[in-house]
Amino acid sequence: MNRFKTTAFFLVVAVALVSGCNCNNEQTNNASGNLMKDAEETIMTRTSIRSFTDRAVAADTVEMLLRAGMAAPTAVNKQPWHFVVIDDRATLDSLGGNGRQSQMWKESTLAIAVCGNMDKALEGPAQAFWVQDCSAATENILLAAHALGLGAVWTGCYPMEERMANVSQMLGLPETIVPLCVIVMGYPNEQPEPKDKWKPENVSHNAFDNKWQPTNTKRF
Ligand SMILES: Cc1cc2nc3c(=O)[nH]c(=O)nc-3n(C[C@H](O)[C@H](O)[C@H](O)COP(=O)(O)O)c2cc1C
Repeated sequence: MNRFKTTAFFLVVAVALVSGCNCNNEQTNNASGNLMKDAEETIMTRTSIRSFTDRAVAADTVEMLLRAGMAAPTAVNKQPWHFVVIDDRATLDSLGGNGRQSQMWKESTLAIAVCGNMDKALEGPAQAFWVQDCSAATENILLAAHALGLGAVWTGCYPMEERMANVSQMLGLPETIVPLCVIVMGYPNEQPEPKDKWKPENVSHNAFDNKWQPTNTKRF
């Protein structure tokens, strides 16, 4: 009985600590994710982050990011994806190469390569839906990262052949696993203002209404 009481006491203290802790106003993660900001605030305040502190990302946070990615909608619910989690310093550095963004990669502590799995994709012309499926997963991960107090930026691979080949080679991807992008992440070391992208001229109601003049040259 005493042992039961002691265990119950520690459980109550642990729950109180977890729910009361809002360390330096940073978002902390827990199993239910109930400290996530609400959807509107998360969506409207997300912005690309390209400078990171050296704080590592905990394993349960990584799992929450992956769960967010896999919660995305996919055509015919095929879930034609594979996620490569990269937390190895040398691999992160080499993915950044010597280009203009190498510093960003050197500062990052985590990256997730979001890849299409052609063995799981639809057949025929519908195969191309993998790009939209994996893009939906990518945006979910970006939003979850932001809600959890992480910074992140989408770096594109597909359809740039050279970038795809480099990433595939560095991550040892088989032919059927195609990298869409690599999300570079870490705890933010910068606080850029989110961009205001609201442009009413990009919207028509019921039918295209010419607020924005089309060039009428065939592009697609
Ligand atoms: C398909 C795609 C590829 C991108 N590639 C890169 C990239 O290689 N490097 C980078 O710093 N940002 C990249 N970005 C991020 C964009 O630059 C960024 O989302 C855009 O400037 C809007 O800024 P915001 O994310 O802060 O709203 C990419 C975004 C998308 C959707």
